[in-house]
Amino acid sequence: MIPMTLNEIARAVGASMHDVHDPEAPVTAPPAADSREVVPGGLFAATAGARADGHDHAAGAVAGGAVAVLASRPVGVPALVVEDVRLALGRLAGHLLARIRPTVIGLTGSVGKTTTKDLLAQVLERHAATVATDRSFNNELGLPLTVLRADAATRYLVLEMGAGRKGDLTYLTGIAPPRVGLVLNVGTAHVARMGTGPADVAEAKGELVEALPPDGFALLNADDPYVAGMAGRTRARILLYGRSPRAQVRAEAVRMDDRARTAFELVTPSGRAPVRLGLIGEHQVGNALAAAAAATALGLGAAEIAEGLNAARRRSAGRLEIVERPDGVTVVDDAYNASPESVRAGLRAVKALAGPRRTVAVLGAMGQQGDASRARHTEVGRLVADLRFDVLITVGAGDALAMAEAARSSDRGVAVHAAEDVAGALGLATALVGPGDVVFVKASSEVGLGACARALAGA
Ligand SMILES: Nc1ncnc2c1ncn2[C@@H]1O[C@H](COP(=O)(O)OP(=O)(O)OP(=O)(O)O)[C@@H](O)[C@H]1O
Ligand SMILES: [Mg+2]
Repeated sequence: MIPMTLNEIARAVGASMHDVHDPEAPVTAPPAADSREVVPGGLFAATAGARADGHDHAAGAVAGGAVAVLASRPVGVPALVVEDVRLALGRLAGHLLARIRPTVIGLTGSVGKTTTKDLLAQVLERHAATVATDRSFNNELGLPLTVLRADAATRYLVLEMGAGRKGDLTYLTGIAPPRVGLVLNVGTAHVARMGTGPADVAEAKGELVEALPPDGFALLNADDPYVAGMAGRTRARILLYGRSPRAQVRAEAVRMDDRARTAFELVTPSGRAPVRLGLIGEHQVGNALAAAAAATALGLGAAEIAEGLNAARRRSAGRLEIVERPDGVTVVDDAYNASPESVRAGLRAVKALAGPRRTVAVLGAMGQQGDASRARHTEVGRLVADLRFDVLITVGAGDALAMAEAARSSDRGVAVHAAEDVAGALGLATALVGPGDVVFVKASSEVGLGACARALAGA
């Protein structure tokens, strides 16, 4: 963040000061919304979450080095008091951007945002100073926090933008107007909150390209009809990427090695270059092409992009994270979150990685699937069987059991076990996994299966 005084910040966000001894005190570090992540010289943004109210941690944050607290009520330590802390952070982010004007790249989609954002950041940061979203900080709180990490030297600001509901992207792009907008795919994540089907999801995600200026770029996935269909909703220039031959940024001669990593020839309007990814799974080709399209729009050449992609590694935890145990068991922790698309991609990647080795899938429910939930879980159970996993352990009651039923009723010989909870699944997996096996662990975040994956991995 560029240094600003408390006074400047208060003016920018319309705050009143309470218990502030020195209004000219400089704030030199970005804000944090978690008091344990406060950087000395920064602000602490007190927000009320589901489990805790940040205002209770105000004193601790100031003791830990925060210059002041951005709060919705006086807290007995230096505070900038506003009506709505999230809105104030958005205003402050807008104020900072008006001063430093980096190139903003906004990225949305149902699945793969964090993975692609991490790839793109690793391509761009070799070229110029880049700030990118940390973890999945993609909402009305996380996005301003990311923006506020930028400073005068920042050339590229890569922002993951989540669209839980219609209007979300209009709000986020209002804070940080993108010049480059990247739409990955329209899937089923959050569909229950957004409307009745993919057209509603597309309606919400297309807000990103509506926000682009005429001299900007909309990067659209040629392989996803809902995304390609967004072309009519933008004034920006359009660049299509994907596996389709009509995509301007595409992959030719895609192949996979025996560790499930893909290689291909990257084709862009400015040239071609060989890519060999370090990430596993065929779905990474699409993610890499999306990142390549954004880098192409920003003027990077094919060879430079390929070098960045080849050197890129997984940055965010719980997304196909591979742990090799000393006894030869491979644990693939994909328990960060789950949707039908990501479960399919993960199951396929694990089978490709395992080759002839024995495979065990530990799967919990996929959340927010609306009316189609049971059918979607049934499809996953069938896929586990069709891919010939040796063992399936499902976690929890309800729709998770549909996976077990579908796998059991297939004739593929999967050994199916249904655990009541995460502890039960860990017990079963510990007993059933033997040396040399590959174990895949995945569920929606609320299932809490990450703990099981970490325990299995021996962490
Ligand atoms: N292109 C893809 N197709 C299918 N699955 C994918 C794709 N890219 C990543 N995944 C898988 O989807 C899951 C979520 O990935 P990631 O965190 O990158 O997505 P996200 O869009 O940021 O999710 P969130 O909305 O939770 O922030 C992981 O299991 C990951 O391996
Ligand atoms: Mg994410």
